[in-house]
Amino acid sequence: MKIDSTLSAIVTGGASGLGLASVRALRDAGVKVAIFDLNEADGAKYAAETGATFHKVDIMSEESVLAGFEAARAVQGQERILVHCAMVAGGGKTVGFDKTTGGYKRAPTESFERGMLGIAVASYRMASIAALGMAGAEPLNDDMERGTIILTSSAASQDGQIGQVTYGSGKGAVNSMVLPMARDLMDLGIRVNAILPGTFATPPMLGVKERAPAVFAGLEASVPFPKRLGKPEEFGSLVLELVRNSYFNGQLLRLDGAIRMPPK
Ligand SMILES: NC(=O)c1ccc[n+]([C@@H]2O[C@H](COP(=O)([O-])OP(=O)(O)OC[C@H]3O[C@@H](n4cnc5c(N)ncnc54)[C@H](O)[C@@H]3O)[C@@H](O)[C@H]2O)c1
Repeated sequence: MKIDSTLSAIVTGGASGLGLASVRALRDAGVKVAIFDLNEADGAKYAAETGATFHKVDIMSEESVLAGFEAARAVQGQERILVHCAMVAGGGKTVGFDKTTGGYKRAPTESFERGMLGIAVASYRMASIAALGMAGAEPLNDDMERGTIILTSSAASQDGQIGQVTYGSGKGAVNSMVLPMARDLMDLGIRVNAILPGTFATPPMLGVKERAPAVFAGLEASVPFPKRLGKPEEFGSLVLELVRNSYFNGQLLRLDGAIRMPPK
C-alpha cells in the first residue's frame, strides 16, 4: 500500500509506548492519524505534538469504540490502517502460595475473563469494526487492496512466563485470530497481521528500571542481540513496513532480538 497523506489510520493506545511510536511513524510518513486512548491528558498532548487527533475511547466498551470510529471518520474519512496496541490484562498464577493464609489460592476466573475481554475480545472488536468500514471503501491499487489491520500480540503468547496464564492465552487468541481473519477478509482486499514484541522500553518497562534496576539489567542481559530492550521506534518502523508491503498477510511477526523467555 502506497503510504501518503491520502491515507488515514486509527491507533489504539496511541498515547503511550508502542502505540505512540506507531502514531509518530505514520505521521512522519504523512498519514492522517486518530489516537484512541483512555488517557486524555497524554492523548491530547501527543495529538497536538504529532498533528494527530485524539478521541477518548475505552476499548472495553462497544459503545465507546463505535462512537470513536464515527468521530474519527467524520474528521479524516475511512481509515485504511488500524494499529491496535491498547489492552487490559489480568494477572496471577493459576494456583500459588497465599502468604496471608499459608495455603494455596488460585487466580480468580473473573480476572481471567477480564483479560480475555481486554485482549482477545477487544482485538476482535477493533479489527471487525475497522474491516466493516474498509469493506465499503474504494480499492487503493491494482491488487484491489482496501485496508490493513495490525494487531499487537506478545512474545508471551508463545513463551508465557509464570503468572502470565491470562496474558499469554489472551495474546495466543490474538495469534489464532490472524489467519482466519485474513482469510475472511481476503475477498475484500484487507490484510491482517500481528506483531509479537519481545521486551520493549515503554513506560511499563521503564517503571521496572526505576523500581528495580537489577531486574531491568537482567531483562536487558536476557536478550541475545542487541543486548537491550526494543526501542518503540523499532516497532513503529515495522508497522510502516507492514502497511507498505502488501505481501505481508496472515502473519505473526516476532520483534524480539531473538529472546525466548524462560519460565521466570
Ligand atoms: N512493552 C513491551 O515490552 C511489550 C511486550 C509485548 C507486548 N506488548 C504489547 O504492546 C501493547 C502496548 O504496550 P505498551 O508497552 O506500549 O503499553 P503502554 O502502557 O505504554 O501504553 C498502553 C496505552 O493503552 C492505553 N489504554 C489502556 N487501557 C485502555 C482502554 N481500556 N482503552 C483505551 N486505551 C487504553 C493506555 O492509556 C496507554 O496509553 C500492549 O498490547 C502490550 O501487551 C508490549
